[in-house]
Order: sequence, then C-alpha cells, then structure tokens
Amino acid sequence: MKSIKIVGTGRALPDKILTNFDLEKMVDTSDAWIVERTGIRERRIADENTATSDLVAIALEKACQQAGLKPSALDTIIVATSTPDTVYPATACWVQKRLGIAGSAAFDISAGCSGFVFALEVAANLIATGAAKKVAVAGGEVMSKVVNWKDRATCVLFGDGAGVAIVVAGDGRSGILASNWGCDGNLAPLLYQPAGGTRMPTSEKTLREMAHTVHMEGNQVFKHAVRAMGGAALKALADAGIGPADVKLFIPHQANMRIMEAARERTGIAREKMFVVLERYGNMSAATIPVAIDEARDGGLIQDGDLILLTAFGTGFTWGAAVLRW
Ligand code: ACO
Repeated sequence: MKSIKIVGTGRALPDKILTNFDLEKMVDTSDAWIVERTGIRERRIADENTATSDLVAIALEKACQQAGLKPSALDTIIVATSTPDTVYPATACWVQKRLGIAGSAAFDISAGCSGFVFALEVAANLIATGAAKKVAVAGGEVMSKVVNWKDRATCVLFGDGAGVAIVVAGDGRSGILASNWGCDGNLAPLLYQPAGGTRMPTSEKTLREMAHTVHMEGNQVFKHAVRAMGGAALKALADAGIGPADVKLFIPHQANMRIMEAARERTGIAREKMFVVLERYGNMSAATIPVAIDEARDGGLIQDGDLILLTAFGTGFTWGAAVLRW
C-alpha cells in the first residue's frame, strides 16, 4: 500500500444553474431525451469572469481549512484540467497567484476526465519518494467555455466545477491499496478540441468553424468508456485483493448514468454503493470525482478505514482506477 492520507477536501460550484428545460430553449432537445440518455437534469455554469483557477482556488482554501493548513504550507499543487485558464502557464500557477502564495511546485495534468485519478497517483508517488509532503490535488473545469452551445449532441452533457483533496503521508493505516492507469492515444481524434494548439493555431477559420470547441464521437466514447472504466475498476479490485462487497463507496467518473451503471455492473458492486452527483452537475470532467468525494464526506458517507473505489475514463483515451483505504 502507498501510505497517504487525505486530510481535507473541498469543492466549488458556480451559482448559476442551467436546467434541461433551459436547454430546450437553446437547442432542439428535451428534458426527457437528456434524462433518458444521460441521467443529467441540470449543471452549473461559470460566469464570464470565472476561470478554472478561480474555482480551484476556492475549493483549495476550503480543503486546506478542513486540513488545518494554510495554502502557503503546501509544497505541491497539481491541477488536473482540460480547460486551463491559459495555454501557459499552468492553471496551478494562476491558483497560486489568486491565493497570493509562492514557492510550491505547481503544475497541471492533462488527462481529461481521468485527470484527478492521474493526479492522485502522481501525488502518492511524490509522497512515497519524499519529493513532496503536503500536496493539493485538484480537478477543475470550466467546460462551458469550450462547448459549442449550438451543438445539441455535446452542449447538454457538460458542467463547471472544481474539487480538491489535500494529501499527506499516511501512518500506514490509510492509502492507495492498488491503482492503475493507461492511455490509447490512437483514439485521440474521437474526443478532442482541435484548434488552439500548435496543430491548428487559432485563426478566423477555426473560429468560424467552432474548431476551438469539444468535438466528440459520442457512440464511440460511450463504448470505450464502458469497457475501460469497468476494466480498470476490476483490475484495481483484483490487485487490492478485495471483492465488491468490501467496497464501501464506488465513485466513478460521472459522464453519463448509463456508462456509470454499466461499469458498476461489471464490478458487481451494489447500486446503493455508487455515489452520484451527475444529475445536478453534469459531466465536469476532471472535477467530477473530487466534487463527489467532498459531497460524500459532507454527507458522512466516508469514515476512516473505509474502502473507496475510484474509476475514470476520458479524452486521450485515458483511464485509471484506484482503491483507497480512507
Ligand atoms: N437532444 C435530442 N436529440 C439528440 C441530442 C439531444 N441533446 N443529441 C443527439 N440527439 C439525437 C441525434 O442527433 C440522433 O438523431 P438521429 O437518430 O436522428 O440521427 C439521436 O439523438 C441518437 O443519437 P446518438 O448519438 O446515437 O445517441 P446516444 O444514445 O448514443 O446518446 C450520448 C448520445 C448521450 C452523447 C452518448 O453517446 C454518450 O453519452 N456518449 C458518451 C459521451 C460522453 O460522456 N462524453 C463526455 C466526455 S468523455 C467522458 O467523460 C467519459
């Protein structure tokens, strides 16, 4: 086991709620279609002045408060995001600026919806080697600013938010029992944001064609997500030497209820153990898992010693899973 302890968690969600009924007035869709195909009823939308680092900073302060730490005491800040404030520097640097702190390592992880699981894995290994002692692991997204609000196939899916976990060295009783991660970059074109990088720099043409927004083959994503999220979760359970009955809480990446249900069924974990925030927040990409963890903690659903199974899938395609002993 990699001995770590999560000593604080926090979340930040924008106030503005966009319901499926609001979307009915924007594109040719219906509440019934969205609920049946995805399980989403509403999502939060950041205002025009709010960027990813703003949400992460709020969540980080809350997490630090719970941990009894000042943000300036952190030695590492890792932000998992696909919607950075800027191409460079990293969103983690903007988080430092917003909090008025300096000196800690600060960098981003780009692994799409798997980002939080990847960042947690990196943090655990930094702690295991002694390279870090107090790490803020964040997942934050403002998806609403990279979505084409005229494309009904994508705009109904996403939402904005951020979640943070403060991770420190454990005393041997808590930590990551087993984890895995992977990627198949050959499938990258099935879900990506084509313009704005060096492959297709922003131009009048890319703006006209909305190439700076989410492009996705929904059916393909669905198929691969079910396979990879379920597979990663099963491997983590097997490597940890535990069965579905041992898991106290199953927190999958929250993209679509049907994907989550299919992954859960493959693991054999009971339905009531799956923690769901998707209905209220939509797919917040890297933020879904840390926001769900924080809500579950607030609800008293996670106690010391509990076994928590995380699994995720995202652009790349990336995937990863972890069994945590809290
Ligand atoms: N409202 C009404 N109709 C719609 C909408 C909408 N919002 N979007 C698409 N449709 C229509 C399509 O145009 C199509 O119409 P047609 O049959 O006349 O051509 C019909 O609904 C069926 O479309 P499909 O794409 O086959 O619908 P499907 O059942 O696959 O559901 C969905 C689409 C929800 C996008 C699904 O494929 C999905 O969830 N995929 C995963 C995508 C995902 O979660 N991506 C997030 C990023 S990755 C991650 O987080 C894991």
